[in-house]
Amino acid sequence: MVIRNERINRRRQVVIIMAPELLILLGAAVILQADLLPDKKFLLLPPVNFTIKAVNLAQVLLRWEPNPDQEQSNIQLGYHVKINAPQEEDYETRNTERNLITILHKGFSASVRTVPWNDHSLQASSWVSAELKAPIGSPGTEIVNLTCTTNTKADNYTHLRPYQVSLHCTWLVGKDAPDDTQYFLYYRYRSWIEECQEYSKDVLQRNVACWFPRTFINSKGRDYLAVYVNGSSKGAAIKPFDQLFALHAIGKDDQKPWTEWFLIAVMMTICFILLIFSLICRICHVWTKLFPPVPGPKSNINDFFVIINNEKTGSSETEVISYAEEAGFETLEDSVF
Ligand SMILES: *[C@@H]1O[C@H](CO)[C@@H](O)[C@H](O)[C@H]1NC(C)=O
Ligand SMILES: *[C@@H]1O[C@H](CO)[C@@H](O)[C@H](O)[C@H]1NC(C)=O
Ligand SMILES: *[C@@H]1O[C@H](CO)[C@@H](O)[C@H](O)[C@H]1NC(C)=O
Ligand SMILES: *[C@@H]1O[C@H](CO)[C@@H](O)[C@H](O)[C@H]1NC(C)=O
Repeated sequence: MVIRNERINRRRQVVIIMAPELLILLGAAVILQADLLPDKKFLLLPPVNFTIKAVNLAQVLLRWEPNPDQEQSNIQLGYHVKINAPQEEDYETRNTERNLITILHKGFSASVRTVPWNDHSLQASSWVSAELKAPIGSPGTEIVNLTCTTNTKADNYTHLRPYQVSLHCTWLVGKDAPDDTQYFLYYRYRSWIEECQEYSKDVLQRNVACWFPRTFINSKGRDYLAVYVNGSSKGAAIKPFDQLFALHAIGKDDQKPWTEWFLIAVMMTICFILLIFSLICRICHVWTKLFPPVPGPKSNINDFFVIINNEKTGSSETEVISYAEEAGFETLEDSVF
């Protein structure tokens, strides 16, 4: 609906931009079009067999089929898909399926309807809906405050795994989780799923943190990291919890070199500008000395100092270099950082 309204709005804007005479003519034409074109006999039927299937941790597949009773015509058909939960989203497509990365612990529901793809005089079909129920479990038994961090280390080429990224997650026990609750953490990155092997425990021996020294995560990838924590207890059904992490948003080590390179580049630029500036100064002086207003060259020798403060390596070493300069140069003190 949103997309269609936008298109209509755009058409109106075009009409407004035109000269007033044209505006009247066009306005009339638009009204005529709107009155004449709707084909009330051609009805769009909703898609059939709409299903939502959890195909992986935090991943669903939405699928539907074109209605087999749909009257055939040369009108191109598309679908308007509306995701209602856990987060509203709305889009149009010509495909009959969609793969979606999403949290599932709150359940998932969506609707789809048939829409004319290019022809806006036709009415959309009615909606068909489907849902995945939220997983069962007693309220308050799921983990809370899940936080995860990744850490990228220098490659160890002797190991088979492609990336040396470690993952550390911590959480708090649900406030209504029984004392005998045990939690289990899984992560999914692309098609890899791994269960945690190294847990840290609270005083009641319940798992409250997990450490993966190595993962399949590519810290430079754009894919989401899905973390899923379920649990078991004799006293209650433990509600599972899942969360998605955007890897570029987790607080990472391999950002340091970039910052360092940036600082180095800034310093080099500053040095370069200073160098050019001092060269220009020298040339100007040479010019005035070459064509002096009153001839009479001086012959005194001046020293000048260049103080290099080596900040880049963080050492406090300071070098003082003195130069014996040719006649005619003034004392120049130059600080280079
Ligand atoms: C819808 O599903 C039913 C049962 O699975 C199947 O017999 C039918 O062929 C499907 N319809 C379409 C259009 O795929
Ligand atoms: C857990 O998260 C909730 C809100 O998400 C916050 O109010 C609470 O302070 C957090 N608890 C701890 C111990 O960090
Ligand atoms: C590389 O990884 C292997 C297997 O984990 C380990 O035995 C080896 O010590 C590591 N090498 C370095 C240089 O870290
Ligand atoms: C937790 O989830 C994993 C992966 O889906 C599953 O294999 C395991 O049986 C679940 N454990 C419990 C206690 O529900």
